[in-house]
Amino acid sequence: MSNIVWHNHKVTRAERASNKNQKPCLLWFTGLSGSGKSTVANALDVALHERGYHTFLLDGDNVRHALCKDLGFTDSDRIENIRRIGEVSKLFADAGLIVLSAFISPFTSDRRLVRNLFPAGEFIEVFMDTPLDTCEQRDPKGLYEKARAGEIRDFTGIDSPYEAPERPELRLDTSSMSVDECVNALIDFLIGNQLIR
Ligand code: ADX
Repeated sequence: MSNIVWHNHKVTRAERASNKNQKPCLLWFTGLSGSGKSTVANALDVALHERGYHTFLLDGDNVRHALCKDLGFTDSDRIENIRRIGEVSKLFADAGLIVLSAFISPFTSDRRLVRNLFPAGEFIEVFMDTPLDTCEQRDPKGLYEKARAGEIRDFTGIDSPYEAPERPELRLDTSSMSVDECVNALIDFLIGNQLIR
C-alpha cells in the first residue's frame, strides 16, 4: 500500500448518480440460509427495475462461484467474503446504482464495517428475521439436513453462529409475510427516506 497513491476521478460519485437520475444506496439483506434473502432481494430488484431504477444484485451463492470461490465457511473466510462484497457494493454504489446484497453475513462487526463504508442513510440493513425452524423446514438446498447429519461443518444456525442485528433499518419475517408484502415494506421504506420517488 505504501507506494500506492489514490487517484481522484474527474467524474464524481454524485455526477454518476445524477446522470441516472437516482440516489445510490445499499440494501444489505442478512439472515439465515433459507430466510428469504435472495427471493426478496430478487423481487425488489424486479420492482425497482420496472420503476426505471438502475440496480445491481449481489448474491452469496453466485458470488461464491466467482469472486469469492477461494473462500469457505470458517469465521475468517466469512469475514473476508463480507469484506470483499462490501467493497464491491461500494464500487457499484459509487457508480450510481442502487445495490442489493444478499449474504448471510453472520457477524455484527462485519456488517458494521460495510455500513461504515457508506454515507449516513445509504446503508439499509434488512434483517430477514425468519425463524430457524421455518428455514430448516424449507431447506431449499437440502443443506440443513446435511448439516444435521454432520455432512457439512460450520453451518450457520446449526454449528456456526448467527448474530442477529439489534437495530436493522428493516426487519422482515417471511414465515408471516408474503414476498409481495416484504417488497411493499421495502418500497415504502425507500420512498419514506427519499431514496426513490
Ligand atoms: S456468509 O456467511 O459468508 O455471508 P454466504 O451468504 O456468502 O455466507 O453464503 C451462504 C450460502 O452458501 C448459503 O445460502 C448456502 O447455500 C451455502 N452454504 C454452503 N455451506 C454453508 C455453510 N457451512 N454455512 C452457511 N451456508 C453454506
